[in-house]
Amino acid sequence: MPTNSLSQHLPFGENKNAEWYGKDIISVKQFNRNDLEYIFGVAHEMRGMVERVGTFDLLKGKILANLFYEPSTRTSSSFTAAMERLGGSVIPINEVKYSSVSKGESLPDTIRTLECYADVIVLRHPETGSAAIAAKAAKKPVINAGDGVGEHPTQALLDVFTIYEELGAGQVDGMTVTMLGDLKYGRTVHSLARLLSMFTNIKLNYVSPEILRMPKEVMDEIGEKKVPQAEFDTLEKVLPETDVLYVTRVQKERFEDPVDYEKVKGAYVIDPDIMKSAKQEMIVMHPLPRVGEISTDFDDDPRAAYFRQMEYGLYVRMALLAMVLGKA
Ligand code: CP
Repeated sequence: MPTNSLSQHLPFGENKNAEWYGKDIISVKQFNRNDLEYIFGVAHEMRGMVERVGTFDLLKGKILANLFYEPSTRTSSSFTAAMERLGGSVIPINEVKYSSVSKGESLPDTIRTLECYADVIVLRHPETGSAAIAAKAAKKPVINAGDGVGEHPTQALLDVFTIYEELGAGQVDGMTVTMLGDLKYGRTVHSLARLLSMFTNIKLNYVSPEILRMPKEVMDEIGEKKVPQAEFDTLEKVLPETDVLYVTRVQKERFEDPVDYEKVKGAYVIDPDIMKSAKQEMIVMHPLPRVGEISTDFDDDPRAAYFRQMEYGLYVRMALLAMVLGKA
């Protein structure tokens, strides 16, 4: 290359031999326990860097295409913030109706288009399996930001990172985690239950109305790892033993029959009164948004971790972007 070429002005490139370089993040099934420790180590470093310097140039010159076919506040804006805090930039496509998707462009063609302009693609889509289809079409890394009722792997990672940061990394083994609400359509709990099954002596309680039970295929998968699982209709019996209470919204938009939604929408509400029977050393989490299943009266309780949980998501997404772009 001639010495006056543009390349002499370029920052150091990415490490193409790094384990995570160029990889897609599609399902929590692709991770093992060592991967989790690595991701959380990088996320913890990201937390320290943001607290010390705010923004830095690790991904300067890199571009993220943030493609959302479904509404999002947290996932979309935290990926944008993550890329910008790392010095990169973002192509935001939050309203696909203003893109060529509204003209009937297929998902694979949309992905092939965006990878001409971006180094990494984050995708949220209403259909289960869409992230895998996108990853097959793409040469650049695709990160699943939620595919229908399938998975939400970055949410599950940030959920476990929240437990690490709030209760201590060593505390996850031996923990009792109670998942509450819509366990049928809640993709976050499907991914979280799978991740938690990698820990030892973990116990999972599922509390939901009959029509919103955890899917059998998820329970079978977790059962194969000999993780104790139990289903309940009410919270009272399991709340006193719970270390992490993971509350979910009953998702109106996933119900085929609105009558079914009306039957179960207010089934559980966490408030200061019910929380009197819970431990003092425990946390309440929620992927958010909430629509009444946690009373705002509980928000000031130190055990209410759901707003801090959103911030942990920024650090995990910074870690993932740096990893798949060969900078961590
Ligand atoms: N937790 C979560 O996925 O939130 P958003 O739908 O706002 O992205």
